[in-house]
Amino acid sequence: MSTINKAALQRQATLIANKRIGAYHQIIFSVGDVVRHCKPGNFIAIAVGGDSSKMILRRAFAISRTSENAQFGGTVELIVAPHGSGSKWLCAQQEGTEIDVVVPLGKAFGIPTEPANALLIGGGYGSAPLFGLADVLKSRGCRVDMVLGASVGSKIYAPMEGKRSVNSLKIFTEDGSMGETGRVTSQLKEIITEREVEIIYSCGPMAMLQAVTEIASSLGVIHQASVEEAMACGIGICMTCVLPIRGEDGTVSMKRSCIDGPVMDGATVCWDLVGKSTENFS
Ligand SMILES: Cc1cc2nc3c(=O)[nH]c(=O)nc-3n(C[C@H](O)[C@H](O)[C@H](O)COP(=O)(O)OP(=O)(O)OC[C@H]3O[C@@H](n4cnc5c(N)ncnc54)[C@H](O)[C@@H]3O)c2cc1C
Ligand code: FES
Repeated sequence: MSTINKAALQRQATLIANKRIGAYHQIIFSVGDVVRHCKPGNFIAIAVGGDSSKMILRRAFAISRTSENAQFGGTVELIVAPHGSGSKWLCAQQEGTEIDVVVPLGKAFGIPTEPANALLIGGGYGSAPLFGLADVLKSRGCRVDMVLGASVGSKIYAPMEGKRSVNSLKIFTEDGSMGETGRVTSQLKEIITEREVEIIYSCGPMAMLQAVTEIASSLGVIHQASVEEAMACGIGICMTCVLPIRGEDGTVSMKRSCIDGPVMDGATVCWDLVGKSTENFS
């Protein structure tokens, strides 16, 4: 049975940078030695609102990149969209603030043992875990192509940084304000075929992950999807984050995306059953 990430620690982390980039905030925390256990795909759960907050649930954010340096020790970088009360509070915090975090959580992306042609697909802030992943894949000799998409250009995180991290970058926006007009799936079949893609990694809204799964499965390409299902506890206790997963024996059961994921084999997720009662399962 799955359990909480064995390396997870609760600690006071110092916020050392908070910079607005387009629609997002790039936030960096100094977390100490635990950074050595943080892998692409893992997430951090942050207590928001300060000591007397009514926001009792931690908020989950993907770890975008990690580093170690003499001045700050181990650091983790996040890309945060300020949309609700918790994320807005986080984006308003000043450098030097101490914040209670639990890190690292969740299952990381699987890395191929041999160099492979990898395609990374991110929707909106879903690009967050893909930058650190691109670094690891390239260091293992993989070819790394990236496709980023969003409704508007300001929701594409740091396109120049994306370009530096990978062999090629294609951008799609629904209103055409950056890159080509369309969705990340608009030319996906052609990209997979032309680049001889062997493995796809994705992160973004559920509908995007479902659409990518359908194309990947039709072409027989492995697809690791990082799901961002709403999480209340983030550590496997409350069951709010469950997703219907088809096992090898063909039966569907609910798996907790905070500990069995967030990285899942896209082909095993029953996307049509997400949010439905278990009576619909067969
Ligand atoms: C693994 C993971 C990685 C993520 N990575 C990022 C990232 O990199 N960048 C980013 O900007 N966002 C990310 N998110 C999304 C982020 O956690 C949410 O947007 C979060 O709700 C923001 O908190 P809020 O207070 O601003 O928003 P609100 O929507 O006000 O959140 C309120 C709280 O209620 C909880 N909640 C909402 N719906 C339910 C429900 N149905 N059941 C139980 N609890 C619920 C939420 O989890 C949150 O704790 C990620 C989420 C997950 C699960
Ligand atoms: S968020 Fe509580 S079990 Fe997953």
